Amino acid sequence: MKKYLLVLCAAAALVACGGNAETPAAASAEKPADISANPDYQKGLALVTKSDCLTCHKVNEASTGPSYKDIATKYASADASIVDTLAGKIIKGGSGNWGQIPMTAHPTLSEEDAKAMVKYVLLLK
Ligand code: HEC
Repeated sequence: MKKYLLVLCAAAALVACGGNAETPAAASAEKPADISANPDYQKGLALVTKSDCLTCHKVNEASTGPSYKDIATKYASADASIVDTLAGKIIKGGSGNWGQIPMTAHPTLSEEDAKAMVKYVLLLK
């Protein structure tokens, strides 16, 4: 009984701290909201928007390049080194993993920015 009361109190405290009208349960049910709160998402999206990526990539459908969603799905179970590999590919450009159309090179992009872009893309699965 005591334990039950404790849980109730903790839940009440959570709701009280939530502040907004939104209950914690409603907030966590909305998946895109979770992703967009991620700093990797915000940083990567800002960089991708500033660069030329969106001329060839869309989030949900293939265009000149594969969709970001397909890229995220393809590498979902890859280990952490995939971030370096894909960042290198963005900087150097190349083809072969999705087809014969090459991605243009982005030699002025820093490795750090390219990695931030990859982290954003990989969140979109
Ligand atoms: C000129 C069109 C074009 C532009 C601009 C472009 N891409 Fe691509 N991208 C492609 C193509 C085509 C592929 C598929 C390459 C392949 O088959 O290996 C690709 C593949 C990728 C991949 C997956 C690479 C792999 O080996 O699986 C990532 C990640 C990626 N692009 C991110 C980006 C980012 C971030 C930018 C912006 C800096 C960008 N692309 C700009 C055309 C483009």
